[in-house]
Amino acid sequence: MTATHLLSVADLGADGIEEVLRVSDSFVEVSERAMPKVPALRGKTVVSLFFEESTRTRLSFEAAAKRLSADTMNFSVSTSSVSKGESLRDTVQTIDAMGVDALIVRHSSAGVPWQVASWVDCSVVNAGDGWHEHPTQALLDCFTIQKELGSVAGLRIAVVGDIKHSRVARSNVLAFTMLGAEVTLVAPPTLLPPSLDGWPVAVSTDLDAVLPKADVVYLLRIQAERQSEALLPSLREYTARYGLTRDRARMLSDDALVMHPGPMNRGVEIAADVADLPRSTVTRQVANGVAVRMAVLFLLLGATPK
Ligand code: CP
Repeated sequence: MTATHLLSVADLGADGIEEVLRVSDSFVEVSERAMPKVPALRGKTVVSLFFEESTRTRLSFEAAAKRLSADTMNFSVSTSSVSKGESLRDTVQTIDAMGVDALIVRHSSAGVPWQVASWVDCSVVNAGDGWHEHPTQALLDCFTIQKELGSVAGLRIAVVGDIKHSRVARSNVLAFTMLGAEVTLVAPPTLLPPSLDGWPVAVSTDLDAVLPKADVVYLLRIQAERQSEALLPSLREYTARYGLTRDRARMLSDDALVMHPGPMNRGVEIAADVADLPRSTVTRQVANGVAVRMAVLFLLLGATPK
């Protein structure tokens, strides 16, 4: 990775993704040690700047930075001077002036990580911007598929659910197709983007027809917090047509994976017991996420002298 920032999967290209996956592999071994720590980023400082809620991404980046021996700082909006009216620009330039090396940025508005990158001297990693992108989620999902099934190339991947409001869908479709997978989006028309021009995907409204042929079924949560209008008659009807119920899971081939980026709504897009099947990679995705984020931080910061 020669770039200063990781903002979009598109910036990496297939070669960049492959490089991150290769480096991630070596960091899995580090995470499995009794003392899961290497001195690779000693002297570097990584700051989490989350303007939107997170469990996995925030803690995963923090664990990744600590395992690389970087110092970490956490920014909390509610206890910061943002509540006194300080602008985003002044906030990030204040933090940058403290001599930090990377800002991990999550924000509810699309494009904020690009804005931040234009204002600071340090590296910026997009940890999710609005409906737009979540590149490290896509990287950890590709890594998980590669570990479980050998390769992403040639696989048939069904991405099911609220595509319209999903940054994960946007980044994952880019990454999966760059690595040679065939992607089918499965959703009610109201949960698809208004235009799919430029999306290299097939589209279906018939989950039952797609499941038997899928190597991976990737489920997305209904993102009610990003919906300003009623797009579904009811969650019960959504589950009846698009939920991965126990009966539908039986339609999958023996080796097919069930994936979900989390947070899950058990009983809506995925049945509670399906989420716990051996073929469900949900917790393995989380574990792999730490190694992948170690690789991203190492590739961005490892070669630059403090
Ligand atoms: N998958 C994901 O981004 O989860 P969090 O919102 O908990 O970080």
